[in-house]
Amino acid sequence: MLSNNTEHIVELKNVYHTYEMGEVSVRALKNIELEITKGDYIAVVGHSGSGKSTLLRIIGALEIPTKGEVYMCGKAINEMNTKELINLRSNVVSFVYQDFQLLPQLSALENVMIPLMPMMKYDLAKKSAEKSLETVGLKLRMNHKPSELSGGEQQRISIARALTREPKILLADEPTGNLDTSTRDQLMEILDDLNKKGLSIIIATHDMQIVTHCNKYIKLKDGEIVREIQ
Ligand SMILES: Nc1ncnc2c1ncn2[C@@H]1O[C@H](COP(=O)(O)OP(=O)(O)OP(=O)(O)O)[C@@H](O)[C@H]1O
Ligand SMILES: [Mg+2]
Repeated sequence: MLSNNTEHIVELKNVYHTYEMGEVSVRALKNIELEITKGDYIAVVGHSGSGKSTLLRIIGALEIPTKGEVYMCGKAINEMNTKELINLRSNVVSFVYQDFQLLPQLSALENVMIPLMPMMKYDLAKKSAEKSLETVGLKLRMNHKPSELSGGEQQRISIARALTREPKILLADEPTGNLDTSTRDQLMEILDDLNKKGLSIIIATHDMQIVTHCNKYIKLKDGEIVREIQ
């Protein structure tokens, strides 16, 4: 089935998600309707356990909802085979996490090159990774290992890694959760710039200062959208 709106990069229709844990089931999302278009800059807020990370994983097709439909570039993801889904997903979305998730034994440059290695020759991947590192202002640190970088720098490396495949949507799960306020502000400047250039960004956060950077705000409570401001 195709979505009838091709402007939506990702579209969630009547999405419910329940985690089954043996005898216990946890309803993490309920009745979610959401459309993401080019240039969206969305803050997702809500108490711990309200479903923010689950929502990001479903938007990024890392998880298939237990009920409802998710369309990526107009195509229903539950109708794709695994290979199609992996291909589409890797061209459309990219993730950034609170704890950076860099490989400690690799240099900054090598970490950023990882997503490109399956599809590009080494020299091309290196050039492209250098360009991403330049975007986040860290080309001069490319030979440093994560342990030789500050927290803010490590997060910028993880953003560079997320940018290498030129995603349409960046999904950031509490990206500034481990950073002090001035480092957070520097990081938000980078995200603001990327958004101005057309990248759609969705940030799950507890920090209301981040919300002021966004052009849309979604508040979750017990897995449901209780407030939405555009
Ligand atoms: N893999 C999982 N298996 C079982 N239950 C899960 C799983 N992931 C999340 N949950 C449950 O789903 C609900 C929503 O969790 P989620 O991680 O999406 O919340 P969150 O808003 O991101 O919270 P936080 O602010 O603490 O990161 C919670 O009740 C949580 O316990
Ligand atoms: Mg979370």
